[in-house]
Amino acid sequence: MQTTIGTDISQAASLLKQNQVVGIPTETVYGLAGNALSAEAIQKIYEAKNRPSFNPLIMHCHSLKQAKQYAVWNELAEILYLNFCPGPLTFLLPKTPLVPQLLTAGSQQVAVRFPKHSMARALLQQISFPLAAPSANPSGYISPVTAQQVQQHLAGKIPYVLDGGTCTEGLESTIVQVQGNSIEILRSGTITLQQLAVYGEVSLVNGNAEKPATPGQLLSHYAPKTPLLVGNVAQLLEEHRSKNIAVLSLSSQFAGVYNHQLSPQGNLAEAAANVFNALHSLEAMQFDLILVEPIPEEGIGIAIMDRLKRAQHQ
Ligand code: TXA
Ligand code: MG
Repeated sequence: MQTTIGTDISQAASLLKQNQVVGIPTETVYGLAGNALSAEAIQKIYEAKNRPSFNPLIMHCHSLKQAKQYAVWNELAEILYLNFCPGPLTFLLPKTPLVPQLLTAGSQQVAVRFPKHSMARALLQQISFPLAAPSANPSGYISPVTAQQVQQHLAGKIPYVLDGGTCTEGLESTIVQVQGNSIEILRSGTITLQQLAVYGEVSLVNGNAEKPATPGQLLSHYAPKTPLLVGNVAQLLEEHRSKNIAVLSLSSQFAGVYNHQLSPQGNLAEAAANVFNALHSLEAMQFDLILVEPIPEEGIGIAIMDRLKRAQHQ
């Protein structure tokens, strides 16, 4: 199968109607999309990604009305929807019988989100079903933020990648479980704890647990193939003196190595938008080792550091 890139939303819609899977842009990362109600399409997503079938997929909808067919909403979840959606927020809610067990990997809860990217929204309007879409990377690898990265990693496995440019958020959506007045963050993202705290009692559920509430939060989930270490860069440079090293930092620079700054002005939103692109391009440059200077763990910095710490585990 040849994998082509294009901007034809109708072509993507027509492939999806035939139970094919297609790479699609969202504001967070590119998704590998298929009909969320079709066992055949869901199976193809798991195969193309080489994803273990115990790891469930997020359902993407265009409206709350559509999402109410598939998930049981509560008052606080609806308030968060009104304030943040469409946007990079995913809700884990009780599923209705219309949702296939294969999508949720047997769980009685379904993850639902409403992408903000205009092409994803236009596509969802052209089809009558919601889309299942995990990030469009091979399982265990870093998420793609351009159509070219999707093509590179899934070439021959999918027919089409809809090109919507570089993702503006750059990190996967914040996943929340909402009950009563409580908002549990199961995966951090660019919608931060502080932003959510306006609406309820927020807690950050530790994503490092061996049995996380979201199976995709197992440690080894975002790693590049080049070894990567997060820590005191000056000290690590001493220890790895003989190697060909790249340093990834927010804004600082180190002598005698290749430096990649995520945001020379120290802007965390810009750093989030750049982080996966940085890992993809450092990987292509084939260094022996990537050293990462820790980023302040406040606001969006929490989500950036979550992904960078995971990138250490191979
Ligand atoms: O920003 C995003 O959320 C991107 C774009 C493409 O929308 N999607 C994404 O999907 O990151 P994925 O599959 O790479 O990550 C989804 C996470 C995984 O950790 C998965 O285990 C969890 O959500 N998840 C999905 N459905 C779930 C469910 N029913 N119960 C628990 N966890 C679930
Ligand atoms: Mg993923």
